[in-house]
Amino acid sequence: MTHQVRAVVARGKGAPVSLETIVVPDPGPGEALVKVEACGVCHTDLHYREGGINDDFPFLLGHEAAGVVESVGEGVTDVAPGDFVILNWRAVCGNCRACRRGRPQYCFNTHNAKQKMTLLDGTELSPALGIGAFAEKTLVAAGQCTKVDRAASAAAAGLLGCGVMAGIGAAINTGNVGRGDSVAVIGCGGVGDAAIAGARLAGAARIIAVDIDDRKLEKARSLGATHTVNSKESDAVEAIRELTGGFGADVVIEAVGRPETYKQAFYGRDLAGTVVLVGVPTPEMKLELPLLDVFGRGGSLKSSWYGDCLPSRDFPMLIDLYLQGRLDLDAFVTETIALEDVEKAFERMHGGDVLRSVVVF
Ligand SMILES: NC(=O)c1ccc[n+]([C@@H]2O[C@H](COP(=O)([O-])OP(=O)(O)OC[C@H]3O[C@@H](n4cnc5c(N)ncnc54)[C@H](O)[C@@H]3O)[C@@H](O)[C@H]2O)c1
Ligand SMILES: [Zn+2]
Ligand SMILES: [Zn+2]
Repeated sequence: MTHQVRAVVARGKGAPVSLETIVVPDPGPGEALVKVEACGVCHTDLHYREGGINDDFPFLLGHEAAGVVESVGEGVTDVAPGDFVILNWRAVCGNCRACRRGRPQYCFNTHNAKQKMTLLDGTELSPALGIGAFAEKTLVAAGQCTKVDRAASAAAAGLLGCGVMAGIGAAINTGNVGRGDSVAVIGCGGVGDAAIAGARLAGAARIIAVDIDDRKLEKARSLGATHTVNSKESDAVEAIRELTGGFGADVVIEAVGRPETYKQAFYGRDLAGTVVLVGVPTPEMKLELPLLDVFGRGGSLKSSWYGDCLPSRDFPMLIDLYLQGRLDLDAFVTETIALEDVEKAFERMHGGDVLRSVVVF
């Protein structure tokens, strides 16, 4: 059997997205069909639409989603119909060299659904990040469904599926922020703010938010920043050092993805400290640093994919903390919108007053 549902499709490079009817097959072995309840609009969806990821048009956009499992295919035992789940793009394989060494958070061979969703004429769709959740129903690998407490709001929970997890995980997993640490976060969009919330959860004593937009800094403060720096008005490195006894922060998280902000992170870090790059650079960007400084300052320079998260470990735990009032996921939901408003949400991204627009079904 197949299902015909409404979905947001990007048909060609740079063209506005369109609302289409798509065909979603029943789940085969190892797959799950999910009735989507909410899906956040992420910059990565816009990158897909602009042809910045690859040329496999048409794309079925949307990947920060939560919903309810409607049916599962043969052999699926981890989730069952009726489960409330967050969709993830790290369904670990269990067999690659990372998994076999007990590091599934780095899995190099993650699973997606084998069957294809299509347009009505049979054209195969490429789901964004192997998910494709701007659709009333979507087909994923069962491992892409992580069961969490039904008490959570779908709009807030779905955000853990990508950007918010990337930020929280950059602090708590990759950066290994601990009690009493000083942390600076450069770039306070959804990802940077999530890193701030993660640093607070981990017990950081001082959290310095750096951005060029005062509105972003205000929001950052409400999520846990203890100090803010507008790096248009003052030098970011000097300001971070000043706020850390002249030394720099133990962990600096770069959440912009540019060489100049990476350099600020590098020099705003204390000796033997950690830099975490979570912002995504473009292919033409180059970084130049004195190698002697890379050596002499010690510590570690890391990058963070998806917050080095393990969905089965991190999603239920973070949802529990959210339900206890210790992690304000609702603060990341700026507005809830309808499926037909995704294009408008892309336009609003440039305005700087939205952390996340979330499609609610
Ligand atoms: N590593 C991952 O797994 C992962 C996952 C999702 C997103 N990302 C990346 O994280 C980055 C941030 O994403 P987002 O959704 O928060 O984007 P965003 O556009 O909402 O936020 C970017 C923030 O950086 C600020 N900024 C811009 N230039 C700056 C500068 N020179 N100095 C200081 N601040 C500056 C902006 O004012 C804004 O607040 C992007 O590069 C995105 O692609 C990475
Ligand atoms: Zn693996
Ligand atoms: Zn995303």
